[in-house]
Amino acid sequence: MEVNIPSCSEEAKWPCRRDIVSEIVDKEIKKMARKKIIAGNWKMNKTPSEAVALVEELKPLVANEEVDVVFCVPAIDIVPVVEACKGTNIQVGAENMYFEESGAYTGEISPAMLVDAGVKYVVLGHSERRDYFGETNEDVNKKVLKAFEHGITPIMCCGETLEQREQGVTMDFIRQQVKVGLQNVTADQAKAMVIAYEPIWAIGTGKTATTEQAEEVCKGIRECVAEVYDEATAEAIRIQYGGSVNAGNAAELFAQADIDGGLVGGASLKADFGKIVNYK
Ligand code: 13P
Repeated sequence: MEVNIPSCSEEAKWPCRRDIVSEIVDKEIKKMARKKIIAGNWKMNKTPSEAVALVEELKPLVANEEVDVVFCVPAIDIVPVVEACKGTNIQVGAENMYFEESGAYTGEISPAMLVDAGVKYVVLGHSERRDYFGETNEDVNKKVLKAFEHGITPIMCCGETLEQREQGVTMDFIRQQVKVGLQNVTADQAKAMVIAYEPIWAIGTGKTATTEQAEEVCKGIRECVAEVYDEATAEAIRIQYGGSVNAGNAAELFAQADIDGGLVGGASLKADFGKIVNYK
């Protein structure tokens, strides 16, 4: 008679499986602790009166207390948009800011001006600012530090070009952007901030990164934050994906373990943004 006795190696698999299960549960709990943040980046679109009309249209569509909803709007639209968003769940962000307090910097906007106008978030180091206006990682770092001095939450952007992706240097490039951007930022500040991963090749192209590609880099950014600080900081920081997010792909992207929401360009200017905010 043959008796099927489990081998030692098979028995040894059990504790191992238990570890895997508890790791998955642990990850889910940590993910649930991070509130999703879904921000629209209007870029250079909408005059002040058009901006108010868009807020009026979107207001009822983006009502969702489960997520943080932010409209990042052109500087000239900030004051009327803050006014139009009063009494709603929408917070207003700027798309840029200078790192000096005040003075002879023609055309720039200071952090104090943003705070006084009611701004809570600021997009910093967007790839369009890096490309067209020559912003460096060091500039972005100065802006991040200045935003914190004034109590504004930075949404610090990073992302690779198509060429860098093809050369296999995506993570090296992004780690550099993140590490320099975070210089002298304390762990408590880092815990409160937002990093937006936006592959440049996916911005405005309709070519979204696959969920695997987006998750892989967001996870890599979280690991980088853990190296710079510690696990607790990495688990607290919110990491968005941006690049052709739309009503059709938001749910899958936002379900990934390390993706805590999105930074949305084109689709934030339409009723679709309501569907993205209510992606579940
Ligand atoms: P799109 O959503 O239009 O691709 O833009 C993404 C972006 O750059 C948001 O900051």
